[in-house]
Amino acid sequence: MKKHIALVPGDGIGPDIVREGVKVLSAVAEKFSHEFTTSSYAAGGVALDSVGIPLPEATLDGCKQSDGVLLGAVGGPKWDTLPSHLRPEKALLGLRGGMGLFCNLRPAILYKQLSDACPLKKEIIGDGLDIMVVRELTGGIYFGERGRTEDRAYDTMAYTVAEIERIVRKGFEIAQKRSRRLCSVDKANILNSSQLWREVVQRVQSDYPDVEVSHMYVDNAAMQLVRNPRQFDVVVTSNMFGDILSDEASQITGSIGMLPSASLAEDGFGMYEPIHGSAPDIAGKDLANPIATILSVAMMLRYSFSLSEEADAIERAVNSVLDDGYRTADIYTDGMKKVGTSEMGSLIARAL
Ligand code: NAD
Ligand code: IPM
Ligand code: MN
Repeated sequence: MKKHIALVPGDGIGPDIVREGVKVLSAVAEKFSHEFTTSSYAAGGVALDSVGIPLPEATLDGCKQSDGVLLGAVGGPKWDTLPSHLRPEKALLGLRGGMGLFCNLRPAILYKQLSDACPLKKEIIGDGLDIMVVRELTGGIYFGERGRTEDRAYDTMAYTVAEIERIVRKGFEIAQKRSRRLCSVDKANILNSSQLWREVVQRVQSDYPDVEVSHMYVDNAAMQLVRNPRQFDVVVTSNMFGDILSDEASQITGSIGMLPSASLAEDGFGMYEPIHGSAPDIAGKDLANPIATILSVAMMLRYSFSLSEEADAIERAVNSVLDDGYRTADIYTDGMKKVGTSEMGSLIARAL
């Protein structure tokens, strides 16, 4: 199979981890006789520094023309005082909005080898954790009307029925392929947009009679994730709630450096990225965990290219390197073998 992949390394640890993702992608190409070509594009702080805007047209065009996008992360303290339309994070919203990537899948899986890195008690995590957060990605408060004067600022959380329905249906379809349990998370006790969200879930539900639906307020969901995460299977929620809950879920898996994501358009086109940020505190120090990015490559193969055997092979390679006791600093526990970003990537590529 021939595919062209757009790389958007971005800022901070972005280039460190995307490099490892590409290493594993090349190993897959060799093992399974595929041809994966790549082009790199600037977005975020690096684009601000080179051309003065966070998302150059050439980057969005290059991504649109590719078969899939692998992104690292954007942002950093250097650009934090810029006005909001010029911040690196705007590049991410521009890519997501510009390519219609409304469906963000964030699987939070606790690998059994990392149970010591999970901050919860053994009796709470039992024999593991496997939650799929389905996050709406091109609506809500991130994309609503906003404004700022000297002494007042506002952001608007708005959703249309159509926006809610298409993500909620994704949640139901994914639940049908898993445990047939779907938890919709909202703040319907206070927000109009959440009340509409809940109404849509309740209406659409009759098309999926085999799926058991529950509703939970987001504050309770944040608490329940720590109290009893195993009650969750598929969680469907809005843009900002999904952002927050997925970071929380990631720590239960040992580290935010473990969580990949797929951001999908209606036609299956996707951008793939770890859920974490540019981690300026560890950038360029060979300390970042590249596994979230490597697992994002696996998601690209599975969701955009239908190469499930290849995706399985990457996941098996990650498992075997963890079995062998190799750990980056963020998931290190006593008695394990500490390795850096680049060695972890090489070990996984070799284990393929
Ligand atoms: P962050 O996710 O970058 O870092 C939070 C903490 O997790 C830090 O201590 C960091 O060192 C650690 N961490 C993150 N990824 C890691 C990895 N792969 N391996 C080991 N440790 C890891 O979040 P933040 O500090 O809130 O944000 C930093 C910058 O990144 C900000 O500019 C923010 O806007 C941006 N950001 C970008 C994205 C993205 O591009 N998708 C996501 C989140 C934050
Ligand atoms: C993420 C990030 C982004 C988000 C920011 C950087 C815009 O936190 O991908 O999770 O909030 O979606
Ligand atoms: Mn986030």
